[in-house]
Amino acid sequence: MLVINNLCKKFGQKILFKNFNLELKGNESICITGSSGCGKSTLLDMIMGIETFDGGSIKKDAKKISAVFQEDRLIEDLSCYRNIAIVKGYADNKDKRMQRENIEKIAFELGIGSLLLQKAGSLSGGEKRRLCIARALYHNGDLMIFDEAFKGLDMELKKNVLLYVKKSTADKQCILVSHDEDENMIFQFRKISLND
Ligand SMILES: Nc1ncnc2c1ncn2[C@@H]1O[C@H](COP(=O)(O)OP(=O)(O)O)[C@@H](O)[C@H]1O
Ligand SMILES: [Mg+2]
Repeated sequence: MLVINNLCKKFGQKILFKNFNLELKGNESICITGSSGCGKSTLLDMIMGIETFDGGSIKKDAKKISAVFQEDRLIEDLSCYRNIAIVKGYADNKDKRMQRENIEKIAFELGIGSLLLQKAGSLSGGEKRRLCIARALYHNGDLMIFDEAFKGLDMELKKNVLLYVKKSTADKQCILVSHDEDENMIFQFRKISLND
């Protein structure tokens, strides 16, 4: 469940949301579209609780949220492996062997298995995107957020990545932000346009 009631948000004079409403029942997933600057990333930040708002309410069941942010937000001097492993606390990471198998599997499926020991900063743009996706899948929240997560991946690669993400998140609530019709063709989520 995710219920947004009369949400209001402005930055200075700029009003981004005025009495915005949205209701997702159960595990329903959505694909948010809208022109650049209309407030998609800000809406995700408010849902995640990392941005304040000026009025209304956001209620959600999800206890744990995983995100692929629009920006990579990687620690460039750490290895790709550490960038993934770091999102879980010590208690969750105690079983080192299971942790390694899990990270290697996800990275392999996303085509970055051979890069795990390299520094994140040495990766290409498309490889970094996939590292961010791997990090979110490993974190394994009950709400998964993908903010233009697949942008910049070339076609053939992108299809494999989309299919793997779809399979890995089948039992989760997902919020996808995308301009790309192809992405939602694979996911088939309800479309919400912020421009209406
Ligand atoms: N922290 C901030 N302070 C001031 N303005 C902001 C801030 N974050 C975003 N904005 C502005 O709010 C608008 C919506 O931004 P954003 O949510 O990133 O849009 P989108 O993701 O739809 O492209 C933009 O005009 C942006 O410049
Ligand atoms: Mg954005």
